[in-house]
Amino acid sequence: MDTIQPEIITNPSVLKKRIDTFRAENKSIGLVPTMGALHYGHLSLVLASKGDNDVTVVSIFVNPTQFAPGEDYEKYPRTLPDDIEKLAEVGGADIVFAPSPEAMYPKGFDANVHVGGVTAVLEGKFRPTHFDGVATVVLKLFNLTRADRAYFGQKDFQQIAVVKKMVADLNVPIEIVSCPIIREPDGIAMSSRNRYLSEKERQDALVLSRSLMEAEKQIAEGVRDTAVICADIRQKIEQIEGASVDYVVVADPDTLAEMERVAGNVVILLAARIGSTRLIDNRVITPKR
Ligand code: PAJ
Repeated sequence: MDTIQPEIITNPSVLKKRIDTFRAENKSIGLVPTMGALHYGHLSLVLASKGDNDVTVVSIFVNPTQFAPGEDYEKYPRTLPDDIEKLAEVGGADIVFAPSPEAMYPKGFDANVHVGGVTAVLEGKFRPTHFDGVATVVLKLFNLTRADRAYFGQKDFQQIAVVKKMVADLNVPIEIVSCPIIREPDGIAMSSRNRYLSEKERQDALVLSRSLMEAEKQIAEGVRDTAVICADIRQKIEQIEGASVDYVVVADPDTLAEMERVAGNVVILLAARIGSTRLIDNRVITPKR
């Protein structure tokens, strides 16, 4: 595989001009929005984009507006040189767009994209300003790159629903491609936040993916009452010292509406704290009739 050394662009106007040249050459553009600290979960999106498009733009920007005060904005890992090396593992990307917060939100910036409905539940309840920050930065990235397609991971299941709704409601001319969760061999979903975990917490965190797998087994054995399924998961997590649950929900994968009984495809979504680290995971389950 030939490795492309990415062009690193930090200035939004420079990015726009570079995109003009690709557009003039009729090249299709794929965008992979990230906050960096890249792992294989991110790289899988880059690979998908490279497969579908002539040009792949990876944005690396720890977006301040999606963090609430007291969250981990300051301590979020910023590892740009490592990230560029990581990209080489999948043959590189054409452009890495790594702007500063001031470049994205210059003095006087005063816009906000709010998507209703799907943002009111789950993560939106626990992080009430989070999805406004995500929708606003993602729309800016869509406009700056004029990408044909943008790639998102199902690890952030609700984020995809929010972005899709924004794109539909605001007629944004882009295709949203949803990619599967990439897990470590032991099952834990890859996440930039896993690096906050101590060795013991890393072991403890396995309860999230394991309890989701066990729920899938329960459903295969015929359990349909979602209260039973959620209580089981909650209990497994809360058994661990220092762990607490924000939510465990069985929902409709399209609307994210909570379901009382498993009927057709469902997604189980959860958020929990292991020590001081907040992790999310989910599993889409198709029950056999
Ligand atoms: P970040 O957490 O860096 O994630 C960037 C993209 O990688 C998201 O689409 C996320 O779902 C995906 N991703 C993360 N871990 C994954 C895994 N284990 N398997 C598959 N995909 C995975 O999500 C964000 O950044 C930000 O909110 C962003 C969209 C960049 C806006 O700031």
